[in-house]
Amino acid sequence: MSTQPLFSSSLISPTVLASLPEGYTCRPLQRDDFHNGFLDVLRVLTTVGDISESAFNERYDWLSKRSDEYFLLCIIDGSGGIVGTGALVVERKFIHSLGLVGHIEDIAVAKDQQGKKLGLRIIQALDHIAEQVGCYKVILDCSEANEGFYIKCGYKRAGLEMAHYF
Ligand code: ACO
Repeated sequence: MSTQPLFSSSLISPTVLASLPEGYTCRPLQRDDFHNGFLDVLRVLTTVGDISESAFNERYDWLSKRSDEYFLLCIIDGSGGIVGTGALVVERKFIHSLGLVGHIEDIAVAKDQQGKKLGLRIIQALDHIAEQVGCYKVILDCSEANEGFYIKCGYKRAGLEMAHYF
């Protein structure tokens, strides 16, 4: 099993690290996180499915070859388990002078850990990465029920989501 991080740990905001509850930390996703509760935390958000370790590893390896594009991070509690996660996907454009846009995806905090500002720290950590890698903005889609959370994180309503499911 490898503890190789998905991206450089130097991109994790020192301010966020200093703001976490005692004993907690924030770090990039790593290859052995299949065993650290990563998928269970995502189940707070939506259906994950029954993913085998080899399928997890295959997806991890795909992501790690694109480590300048996919930034998945985890919040770890005092016992080493994953209690929160979030992702930043960096899109490279031609418009806006070859601009970079960050997309925030798949934010989840374990049910029994909600209300400790971990969600806020995840967004702050992803915003920091986006700024460090040169994004000119970060955007996300969310439900009406979560709008207040993102407003507390400094986001504002902009536009309308459309979807075409296949
Ligand atoms: N509506 C309004 N305000 C909220 C909400 C909400 N749904 N959730 C949290 N807040 C407020 C908190 O009260 C707090 O305010 P305060 O600073 O005045 O005390 C502030 O937002 C920060 O809250 P946190 O403690 O950081 O929130 P938490 O750690 O509980 O995480 C989250 C919030 C991520 C929404 C969590 O409840 C969760 O995992 N929910 C289920 C999964 C989910 O819906 N994820 C987001 C999907 S959208 C996406 O992924 C792009």
